[in-house]
Amino acid sequence: MANHRPTFYVTTPIYYVNDAPHIGHAYTTLACDVLARFKRLDGFDVLFLTGTDEHGQKVEKSALNAGVAPQSYCDSVSKLFRDLTGALDVSNDDFIRTTEARHVRASQALWRAIAARQSPAGRPNIYLGKYAGWYAIRDEAFYDEGELTLGADGRRRAPSGAEVEWVEEPSYFFRLSDWQQVLLDFYEKNPEAVLPATRRNEVTSFVRQGLQDLSISRTTFTWGIPVPDAPGHVIYVWLDALTNYITAAGYPDVDGGFARRWPADLHMVGKDILRFHAVYWPAFLMAAGLEPAKRVFAHGWWTNEGQKISKSLGNVIDPYQLIEQYGLDPVRYFLMREVPFGQDGDLSRAAMVRRRNVDLANDLGNLAQRVLGFIAKNCGAAIPKRQPFTEADQALTAAAASLLGRVRREIDQQSFHRALEVVWQVVAEANRYVDAQAPWALRKTDPVRMEAVLYVLCDLLRRLGIVLQPFMPQAMELWLDQLAVERDARDFGAYDRVLVSGINLPTPKPIFPRLVEDALQAKAPS
Ligand code: MSP
Repeated sequence: MANHRPTFYVTTPIYYVNDAPHIGHAYTTLACDVLARFKRLDGFDVLFLTGTDEHGQKVEKSALNAGVAPQSYCDSVSKLFRDLTGALDVSNDDFIRTTEARHVRASQALWRAIAARQSPAGRPNIYLGKYAGWYAIRDEAFYDEGELTLGADGRRRAPSGAEVEWVEEPSYFFRLSDWQQVLLDFYEKNPEAVLPATRRNEVTSFVRQGLQDLSISRTTFTWGIPVPDAPGHVIYVWLDALTNYITAAGYPDVDGGFARRWPADLHMVGKDILRFHAVYWPAFLMAAGLEPAKRVFAHGWWTNEGQKISKSLGNVIDPYQLIEQYGLDPVRYFLMREVPFGQDGDLSRAAMVRRRNVDLANDLGNLAQRVLGFIAKNCGAAIPKRQPFTEADQALTAAAASLLGRVRREIDQQSFHRALEVVWQVVAEANRYVDAQAPWALRKTDPVRMEAVLYVLCDLLRRLGIVLQPFMPQAMELWLDQLAVERDARDFGAYDRVLVSGINLPTPKPIFPRLVEDALQAKAPS
């Protein structure tokens, strides 16, 4: 049967298998997970893709250093990334590896499609030439002399800090220079195709300065996808890697599900790889006669206790260790809340403990504990009776009812931090309501009113639990269990259902216990 639900296709970058996963990878993936979960609850038919980028010189070099054949090296490191999705409770629908047959096929088909067409100036999109210039293996990127800086050690470095080397080799080129105006028109017509706005401005001013043709094949090593009908050439790893997004949507079988999936709704990327996604990728796609993705969002970078994260400084953050120390859902919450999404941020232990103890244990956790503990003792452990609403009941219920719409607006702009701020405004309002209504005092003076207040609060907790599921899926599962919310009443379609009185509630348990510093010290790495 045809599926008529609207689709939503979101991707993470595919991660290089030259190294084990760290917090940067976890961050991008988690943001996509929140989005994918939100869209599923909102009725969308979601495709959420992540995976690994396995070709190119950098990976080949790492395999060589490890003394292993590239394919078996890729197999083992790719597995680490796949395992991480499990540890983070990430809900990806597919995990792509660029060494898979489906991807080799798609990459060669895309190459052919680009080569078969002409540039806007009526010239072949791809031509054979010779590359002579600088290349950074770490970035897998070509640089102009003018972009480089000369270090005290006499070595040239790319703006990213990566070392470059001089390369001269026969190479196929993509006629990027002919795509400048088409790209500028695309950004102009699609003002939200690159976000945040500051990044969009960087991209457009880069393109306005003029584009050079791009080398898209390499001949000095072999670990890559062969260029069709061109012995000795492998496809440049970034063209290969970017193609993953259409491979997973079914390319080159354009008559299958591809039309339903493509263009992707969102490519989530770090700021360091924006140019590849917002300039090269749309140009490749348009050159092949395909539509560019609807949006590329570039997020910022994390520092560790104020310091740039780097292997040489030895301060790389292991996501497993974070989860072990603070718990998975608090980590997910922290990463989405602490920093305005799109900006750089700092991961510090003090901030993490504060978020967990103040936002989660005090504000959110205590609210549920107070309400559910009180109901367990004083209302026969069942959802209290609904009564006509007072003005205060009405105000809080209205705030909760409109919350989902307000959160949705923020999520649709990838404003995860704002989405959570909006939720916490309602949490604060609810805590004030509990204090003002004082159900513990009503117990003696007006038990009917006490029930009314607790009913309003149960309904509010139910809505908070539903709306917070994408951010903290495991904690909110327990949360909704404690409110005896049926499994089929947890999606956004059930948000406005009337809460039925009289349903028995299980014994409440704290969901966000406070972190005690001593316990934390004991768990901290030595
Ligand atoms: N393989 C390419 C992407 C190809 S997509 C077609 C790649 N891989 S990567 O393994 O280097 O992944 C990097 C991702 O992690 C980027 O989105 C990058 O921004 C992100 N991060 C790496 N370090 C980071 C931080 N310290 N903080 C936040 N994100 C960071 O690039």
